[in-house]
Amino acid sequence: MTTSLVEAPLVEALNVSRRFSRKLDYAEKIARFFGADLEEKTVHAVDGVNLAVYPGDVVGLVGESGCGKSTLGRVMAGIMSASDGEVRWKDKPLTSLQGEEKRAMRLSAQMIFQDPMSTLNPRKRVIDLIGEAPRVHGIAKSSEMRDYVASLAERVGLDASYLDRYPHQFSGGQRQRIGIARALAVKPKLLVCDESVAALDVSIQAQILNLFMDLKREFGLTYLFISHDLGVVKHICDRVVVMYLGRVVESATPDELFDNPKHPYTQALIRELPSVSDRRRVFTPIKGEIPSPLHPPPGCHFHPRCPKAFDRCRVERPVLKENATGHVSACHLNDLPASETKNATAEPAI
Ligand SMILES: Nc1ncnc2c1ncn2[C@@H]1O[C@H](COP(=O)(O)OP(=O)(O)OP(=O)(O)O)[C@@H](O)[C@H]1O
Ligand code: SF4
Ligand SMILES: [Mg+2]
Repeated sequence: MTTSLVEAPLVEALNVSRRFSRKLDYAEKIARFFGADLEEKTVHAVDGVNLAVYPGDVVGLVGESGCGKSTLGRVMAGIMSASDGEVRWKDKPLTSLQGEEKRAMRLSAQMIFQDPMSTLNPRKRVIDLIGEAPRVHGIAKSSEMRDYVASLAERVGLDASYLDRYPHQFSGGQRQRIGIARALAVKPKLLVCDESVAALDVSIQAQILNLFMDLKREFGLTYLFISHDLGVVKHICDRVVVMYLGRVVESATPDELFDNPKHPYTQALIRELPSVSDRRRVFTPIKGEIPSPLHPPPGCHFHPRCPKAFDRCRVERPVLKENATGHVSACHLNDLPASETKNATAEPAI
């Protein structure tokens, strides 16, 4: 881990929220015309998140489907605006960047998605898919492009003799390697990997994760690694950030998080983690329904599913507090004396 206390974060979210309006569909509009009490709804995808990612860090962002991981990743990569709060890139507000600085930031933060086919134009050859952005941005000369792309392809484990092939001629793992080479081609500093290995077989997953770590060392990369699977981030991240319904509920090093989880939601996530011994590969969701982000519960969002909830949890939002150096959690149990939280430290029966 390279986090330094004096160094500025590479990218930082300061009290960032992102909301989406859910427009009424045609049937709902008709129903409203006939008197139904229907309004446009607001989804609170990200709700007041603070997150600093330092140069060289590998930060894992985990949580169940719909908790806002991708939205936060997009906002921090600068490809989606925040509704409230501020994202800072090298200590400058993203919204203040203009001209060359803005272009450089856009290139420096690259996203790698789960399904490379959704971002790779099927009608383009690999040479053009990887070479397009460096050509447009003047990173490599046209006359040197084949060599430039070939060296990147080889670096990510692709055979350079395949550069004239189309994406559909590759396997899922190879297509992910094309996506990684494409991101590397513009010399990024930050890779936001959004479920980048989720669709791959376990053995291929391990190869791609190893590749990410090799590239980190070689190119000095920083990662925001988004996954619904704690097991994946456990082995590669310096720090794990757990989200629940748009909010960060806990953050710590993987060892600290797994050995000493503080938040009942994290405890439940870890308890539900498939063990290697039973060879289950599918993540088992925590029992109890995830509340709709259209109507998040008041107070602590987790209270309808939390077996340790008490009155305060239903009305007051818990704030992040330090449990140990580098370990924070947002739970009202933090304010109770140890004697009163004794029962609460048992595994939650949810
Ligand atoms: N463009 C959008 N318009 C409306 N709602 C959106 C949009 N993008 C995301 N949302 C909503 O915001 C919430 C958070 O979505 P997001 O995709 O960030 O979650 P996630 O944690 O990445 O989930 P998953 O693990 O399924 O990818 C969800 O309720 C989602 O439906
Ligand atoms: S604040 Fe209350 S409801 Fe929320 S996790 Fe802690 S104990 Fe459970
Ligand atoms: Mg997502």
